[in-house]
Amino acid sequence: MRLVEHDGVKIGVFNCEGSLLAIEDRCSHDNGPLAEGEFDPAACTVECPRHGSLFDLRTGRPKTLPAFTPVQTFPIAIEDDTITLEVE
Ligand code: FES
Repeated sequence: MRLVEHDGVKIGVFNCEGSLLAIEDRCSHDNGPLAEGEFDPAACTVECPRHGSLFDLRTGRPKTLPAFTPVQTFPIAIEDDTITLEVE
């Protein structure tokens, strides 16, 4: 995982066995530092370090409680050696 920041928004970029995925580093439950949680590259999930909700990195949706709303995801483009995130 690599943490990047744009306009004060922290974003975690994950490598799920070759697929790069980006999600907001802020849990939808209680603003926990989501991207810093335990990452499972095979399942493509991250576990919030604060209360343990498991999030699907492909969709941003929580798979377990207590979080129940998705976090923001960001499209990624790769051109040559440059990785670009699309942030609104
Ligand atoms: S802050 Fe992430 S599960 Fe509560």
